[in-house]
Amino acid sequence: MTTIATEQMGSFYANVIDSVGDGVIVFDEVGGCALMNPAAEEIAGISRRQALGQGAMTLFATDPQLCEMIGKTAATGMTISDHENVVLMRSGHPTPVSVTTTPLLLDTGAKVGTIVVLRDLTSIRELERAVRHADRLSALGALAAGLAHEIKNPLGGIRGAAQLMERELPDGSDLREYTRVVLKEVQRVNRIVEELLTLASPRPLQLEEVNLHKVLGDLLLLQRRAVDDKRVTFMQQFDPSIPPILADEALLTQLFLNLIKNAVEAVEDGGRVRVASRVVSDYSMTQKGERRSRMVAVEVSDDGPGIRPEQLEHLFTPFFSTKAKGTGLGLAICQKIVTEHRGMITVDSDAGKGTTFTITLPLN
Ligand SMILES: Nc1ncnc2c1ncn2[C@@H]1O[C@H](COP(=O)(O)OP(=O)(O)OP(=O)(O)O)[C@@H](O)[C@H]1O
Ligand SMILES: [Mg+2]
Repeated sequence: MTTIATEQMGSFYANVIDSVGDGVIVFDEVGGCALMNPAAEEIAGISRRQALGQGAMTLFATDPQLCEMIGKTAATGMTISDHENVVLMRSGHPTPVSVTTTPLLLDTGAKVGTIVVLRDLTSIRELERAVRHADRLSALGALAAGLAHEIKNPLGGIRGAAQLMERELPDGSDLREYTRVVLKEVQRVNRIVEELLTLASPRPLQLEEVNLHKVLGDLLLLQRRAVDDKRVTFMQQFDPSIPPILADEALLTQLFLNLIKNAVEAVEDGGRVRVASRVVSDYSMTQKGERRSRMVAVEVSDDGPGIRPEQLEHLFTPFFSTKAKGTGLGLAICQKIVTEHRGMITVDSDAGKGTTFTITLPLN
C-alpha cells in the first residue's frame, strides 16, 4: 500500500466515507450533526447543508425509533442494531432501513460522538415480496396442473355424451336447450382448465421477430368487432421507430388480449380504451452499474372506474376477480408471460381515474 501523506489523510478519509454505499451520519459530543455522506442524504432525504449542526431530534422528528437508538448510544456507549423495524418517514415516502448506532471513540477510549449507519432496505423488501409471491405461485401451479389434468378427461366424457344426446333428440325437442347449456358450460370449464395449464406448466418460448404494432393493431380490430353491447372508442398511438422484437408472438397476443379485454370490460358505455407504444431509452431495469438497455413500453389504458388501492396488491394473484363471470386468471397469465420475456408489468390506477397497465419489454 502506498503511504499517504498526513495532510492528505483528511481528504482521504472524507473520500472513503463519501464513497461508502451505506448512509453514514456522525453526531458530535453535544449531539449536533458533524458529518453526513451522500448516501445518507439520499436515504434520509436531507441535504448535508441543512443537516450540519442539527440534533437528531430535529433531523428525525418523524422517526422516534431512530432518535431513541441515537440517544441510547450517546448516553450509554452501547452499539445498537435494528435490521427489521425502522421505517424512515422523513423523505415523504416510507423507507425501510437497517440502522446501527455506534459510539465514536478516540484512542484514549473517550467517547466523542455517535456514528449512525443506515442501509436502505427498499429493494431487499421488494425482492422478498417477489420471492414470496413466486413461492405461492409455484405451489399453486403444481396443484393446479394436477387438478387440470384430472378434470380434462371427465370433461371430454361429458362433452361426448352431451353431443350424442343432442343427436338422439328429435328436431324441435325442448331438451335441446339443456344439451346446449351443458356444452356451453363444458366449454367454459375447458377454457379455465387450459388457462390454468398455461399458468402452471412452463412452455419454452418460441422466439421470433414480432411486429408489435401488427399484433396490437389486429387485436384492436378484433375487439372493435367483438364489443357490441356498448360503445367503446379505441385509440392507438404507436411509435413508428420501434423495430421488430424477439418474442413469442402467440404469448404476446394473449398478453395484450387479456389487457385490452380487461380495459373494455372496465369502461362504461361511451368509454375509451387507448393503446400506445414508445421507446424507453436510458431505462435501467437493473440495479446501478449494470448495462442500460433500450426497452419498449406499451400502455393499455382505459377511463373506467379504476382499481381500489386495497385491490391493487391482489391483482396478479390467480383467481382474484371482481367480475361475476371472471376466473381471475387473466392478469396472472399476463405477469407470467411478461416475466418470461424479461419484461415488467406495472399498473397505475386510482378509483375514479381510470387504469393504465404498462408493459416494458427489452428491445434486444
Ligand atoms: N382495466 C381495469 N380496470 C379496472 N379493474 C381491472 C382492470 N383490469 C383488471 N381489473 C381488476 O382485476 C381483476 C383481475 O383481472 P383478471 O384479468 O386477472 O381477471 P378477470 O378479468 O376478472 O377474469 P378473466 O380470467 O376472465 O380475465 C378484475 O376482476 C378486476 O377487478
Ligand atoms: Mg381479465
